[in-house]
Amino acid sequence: MKNKGLILTVIVLFAILVITFVFEIGKSNSTEGANTDETNKTVGILQYVSHPALNEIRRGVEDGLEESGYTQGENLTIEYQNGQADQSNLDTMSQQIVQQDPDALVGIATPAAQSLANTTQDIPTVLGAITDPVGANLVDDMQEPGGNITGVSDKAPVDQQMELAKEILPETQKVGILYSSTEDNSKYQVAEATEEAEKAGFEVEDYPVPSTNEITQTVQTMGDEVDMIYVPLDNTIANAMPTVVNEANKKDIPIIPSVDTMVEQGGLATIGVNQYDLGVKSGEMVADILDGNADPATTPIYTFDTGDVIINQEQAEELDIDLPESVTEDATYVEEEDE
Ligand code: TRP
Repeated sequence: MKNKGLILTVIVLFAILVITFVFEIGKSNSTEGANTDETNKTVGILQYVSHPALNEIRRGVEDGLEESGYTQGENLTIEYQNGQADQSNLDTMSQQIVQQDPDALVGIATPAAQSLANTTQDIPTVLGAITDPVGANLVDDMQEPGGNITGVSDKAPVDQQMELAKEILPETQKVGILYSSTEDNSKYQVAEATEEAEKAGFEVEDYPVPSTNEITQTVQTMGDEVDMIYVPLDNTIANAMPTVVNEANKKDIPIIPSVDTMVEQGGLATIGVNQYDLGVKSGEMVADILDGNADPATTPIYTFDTGDVIINQEQAEELDIDLPESVTEDATYVEEEDE
């Protein structure tokens, strides 16, 4: 009896020892994976959804890192995830990425950046083209972000875009603004677009859509009520741009979007910042952080103040619009993408 008890105790003690040992090894392995190797850096990228602008930004981020000396497979590992426009996906993915303890994070589009920000307040995070970082509660101040987040804002030159609209569409009286009512980044832009459109002498009406499902019908209504459609930097609309263009063309309503990629998708023209360039700048900012040369708290949000005139000639012809030379002179022409 006595002996049995002793043997049992020995077995239990031994088992505890083995379990602790295995556990400890597991723990040290998992930290080694990401961070203890000083020459290899890990960057987690979370993208909200796949639409042409965000895909270009992502490509730019990777190239910006590469140009700054961080090459995937050599000294850089990229953990990339795409939320497919689903908030619960974003939150799960943020947690997965943060668990790997990366050296830096990139949030592409506002909902992705917000999800990362909710998950970590420590890991340095770069905003991949967020329209209004202060309004989206991501940073305290554009000049002095104050926390673990800095990056690039893609705030559009809305005043110049409305001036352009006036120049190429002189008959326009009423402008409709098409946007998604669920996106924080769009709400702020609508106020600005309304103000600038009124300054340019247009009458303005808002057309918010609660989800992708209402876009077709909303654009049909706009077709009867407005002379021109303006689209801000809205991810839901960017994702559904082929539908928007299709419906607007049925009623010959021109679309002035806020970015080059939406002109490529069938918008008429805009003055905008190149999406790829936004990504490259974001990638360079990540590299500065990895190099130890920048602290997000004191690194101002980068904004581009100049844009190029972008024209879709195919659309101009489709809508029978003669573009004045003052506009076409310095313009870049884009080819429409085949869907
Ligand atoms: N700025 C947008 C945001 O904050 C993301 C974005 C970047 C975007 N480029 C775009 C949206 C082009 C629509 C079209 O979420």
